[in-house]
Amino acid sequence: MAWYDANRRVMPWRGSKDPYLIWLSEVLLQQTRVEQGTPYFIRFRAAYPTIEALAGAPLEHILRLWQGLGYYRRAHLMHQTAKIVVDQGQWPSDLAGLRRLPGVGAYTSAAIASIAFEVPVAVVDGNVIRVLSRAFGAPESSDRPEGMRWIQTMASDLLSTNRPGDYNQAMMDMGAVLCTPKNPRCVDCFWSDRCIARLEGRIEELPAKSRRSVVIKETLNYIVLVCKGYVALFKRPEYGIWAGLYEFYRVETSQELGAGSVEFDASVKDSQTLKHALSHRALTIHLTIRAIHRRPALSQGVWVKMDQLKQFPMPRPLEMYAQELTLKYGRTQQSHAHRQPWQGPGS
Ligand code: ADE
Repeated sequence: MAWYDANRRVMPWRGSKDPYLIWLSEVLLQQTRVEQGTPYFIRFRAAYPTIEALAGAPLEHILRLWQGLGYYRRAHLMHQTAKIVVDQGQWPSDLAGLRRLPGVGAYTSAAIASIAFEVPVAVVDGNVIRVLSRAFGAPESSDRPEGMRWIQTMASDLLSTNRPGDYNQAMMDMGAVLCTPKNPRCVDCFWSDRCIARLEGRIEELPAKSRRSVVIKETLNYIVLVCKGYVALFKRPEYGIWAGLYEFYRVETSQELGAGSVEFDASVKDSQTLKHALSHRALTIHLTIRAIHRRPALSQGVWVKMDQLKQFPMPRPLEMYAQELTLKYGRTQQSHAHRQPWQGPGS
C-alpha cells in the first residue's frame, strides 16, 4: 500500500467512488490496456455523464463512440446493463448483485464492489496472476483449477480489508509498472529481495505459460458497391462477431472470389486483401470494388454518401479500409458537388 500511495498511476476515474464511473472504466478496460482505454473513458464520460444518459442513448451512438476499441459485444452488454440499473433505480452494491449484470463477470464485479463500495474482495486479472505467481512462486499454472485456487487464496489472504479498492488497484499497478511480462523492473521493486521468482531465477517461467488458444482461420469476401460517391452498407445481425456493425456487401463463401463470379453488371475497379487478427480468429478479408452506374434499391442495406461513412460504426479493418475508400473515390465526387461557382471548373 505504501508503494501504491507513492507510485499510483494517474487515471481519470481514480479518486471517484461513483459506481457508474468505476463500472464504465472497468468495462472499457476489459481486454484493453489502460493507455488505450483511457481516452475512451474520457469521451464516454463527456458524452454520457450519468448512467441515465447512457441508458437513454441510441445503441448506434454508443457503437460510434466505441469504434476502434474492439470486442463490440461489450458495448451491447454495457447498454443493457445501463438500462437495467436505471430501471432498478440504483446499483447493486454486493458482489452477487453486480455479477448478475450483463457483461459483468468475476473480475469486473470484484473491481466495482471493492473500488466503489469497499467490499473486501480480491480481484484476479492477468496482472495479479503474474505478480502473485512470481512473488510467491506459484506451484502450478493458473490455467489449472488448482493453480487458480492457489492464486485466489493468495490474493484473498493478502487483501487489505480496510482499503480493498486501493489494494486491488495496487496489485494491478504493480503488474503494469514493476512486474511487467517482459523485463520486469526488479531494481525498482520493494519486494525483489523476497521475490521467489527472482531468488530462484524463475522470472522467465512464471507465471507458467498458458495453453495456447486455438486460432481459427477465416476468409471474408466483400463486394464494395460504389455508385457516384455512394457506397452500399449492410447492418450485421445483433449477435455474434461484430454484432450490429455495418459492413459492405458480404458474399457467403469461404472461397476467394474471382472476378466475374458475381451477378452485378459492373466493372471490377480495384481489389484488395487485408489480414486482421482477432483474439481467436485470423481473418483474411478480400474486398472487391464494383462501380455501378445506377443505384438499385437495397432491401437490406443502405446507400451511404462516402463523406458520411464515418458515421456508421464498422468493424475496425473495414473502418480503416473505408477511410482509404473515401479518399480514393469520395473526394472527386465531393469536390465537384461542393465546388462553388467562383472556384471555376476545377481539374
Ligand atoms: N486495469 C483495469 N482496471 C484497472 C484499475 N482500476 N487500476 C489499474 N489497472 C486497471
